[in-house]
Amino acid sequence: MQRKPLIAGNWKMYTTAAEARELAAAVAEASKGLSDREVMIAPPYTALPVVKEVVAGSNLKLAAQNICWEEKGAFTGEISPLMLLELGCSMAIIGHSERRHIFGETDALINKRVAGAIKFGLVPVLCIGETLDEREGGRTMQVLEQQVRAGLADIVVTDPAKIVVAYEPVWAIGTGKTASEQQAQEAHHFVRDLLAKIYQKSIASQIRILYGGSVNPGNVDVLMSQEDVDGALVGGAALSAESFTRIINFK
Ligand code: PGA
Repeated sequence: MQRKPLIAGNWKMYTTAAEARELAAAVAEASKGLSDREVMIAPPYTALPVVKEVVAGSNLKLAAQNICWEEKGAFTGEISPLMLLELGCSMAIIGHSERRHIFGETDALINKRVAGAIKFGLVPVLCIGETLDEREGGRTMQVLEQQVRAGLADIVVTDPAKIVVAYEPVWAIGTGKTASEQQAQEAHHFVRDLLAKIYQKSIASQIRILYGGSVNPGNVDVLMSQEDVDGALVGGAALSAESFTRIINFK
């Protein structure tokens, strides 16, 4: 079985509900008829109700940018899986580098979020990636191994479609500096081998590993041509319907 490519747009803290309506409508239109790849968008929470309406009936998947592990309770500022399901989300980005580095989210916290997403039937997109210091210090693979092992601690995966991993080198996010296709392939291959050790080879070979970090219309084709690159997590270039349309139509 082939891994179906997944192109994901992470809108971060951009778009008011009105702007999101327009962008989502354009992306829904652009993704019409694409059957050999999946397209996901992660608008801010506040835009989810209008985006849900706009993408109804399209094949776009909706994701949250984070998720709590509890159904409800005293967790000020958090959003529960049930609330996200109600708003049409089927996936959730977890452990994004901005959550880790700006908001101090730890591997242990991220692991709880992954478990919570799975428990409620949402597909987690677990983000991992090394900083520039870590790469220059030769610690990239060590960091990735720690983030994968801790993020997936005690997570049982029997259906490889129920989890996605995104490799996003921190130094490439929002900087215009993309990892070379060799750097991406090397990291993805390492992560897949690791997943085979944690689960089984047959599961690991089916789990999608996305690349993220300054993906744009000019570099998406070569990144997607790499054996272990199964999709892209796109930030800045996902905010323009024109560039995101080109990206989802990668060759
Ligand atoms: P970028 O962001 O494409 O703007 O580098 C990617 C991400 O943060 O997911």
